[in-house]
Amino acid sequence: MKILVTAGPTRERLDPVRFISNRSSGKMGYAIACAARDAGHEVTLVSGPVSLPAPEGVSLVRAESAADMARAVFDAFPRQDLVIMAAAVADYRPVEISEKKIKKQPGDFVLRLERTMDILAELGKRKCPGQILAGFAAESENLLENARKKLAEKNLDWIAANTVSDGFGTDTNTVTLLGRNGEALVIGPDSKARVAAKIVEIIASPPATR
Ligand code: CTP
Repeated sequence: MKILVTAGPTRERLDPVRFISNRSSGKMGYAIACAARDAGHEVTLVSGPVSLPAPEGVSLVRAESAADMARAVFDAFPRQDLVIMAAAVADYRPVEISEKKIKKQPGDFVLRLERTMDILAELGKRKCPGQILAGFAAESENLLENARKKLAEKNLDWIAANTVSDGFGTDTNTVTLLGRNGEALVIGPDSKARVAAKIVEIIASPPATR
């Protein structure tokens, strides 16, 4: 299969030296890309800024902001059989990007943010028959309820639900993989490599062999 994986955080620039981002390490997405490659698939990895080495045998596309990631993903999407969005895409970006470094002033500084595009929800709208879409749900409460909501609202086939305390920055993870046909499979706690291999095995297999 042709598989597109996204990984890591995005950075939303404020001025030449500052940005808004999040604590995603990219480890889970990179582990999924490597697991998919090892299973014999043709893998494209769209990665936000991370400090991980480029995996061998994977086509790597770098993206900085949510808008960059959206462009890279939409460009590749028509050629993909499966997309797994593991990136922690920023939901908001500064309304204005200053060309010059913002100087401090007396008093408070109010930062106005606007919504970025929900890449996965847009893919859910563009999805063609035969294309499989999978996302992650990072939650700090009501894990399965919120994940099921995202699965339905974004028109996904699969969602890997994980609590933020389990997965962010660590080498291990526990996910509950929810499928659009009511499947619910707990994977882990285990290394991100083994959790990733299991996720790929389930999502990238035809329904009859699952
Ligand atoms: N996602 C995306 N584009 C965004 C935000 C999220 O494609 N602008 C994708 C993520 O890659 C992930 C899924 O949507 O696969 C869910 O992301 P998550 O941060 O858990 O949830 P949100 O949809 O952003 O909702 P909320 O922040 O309210 O929990």
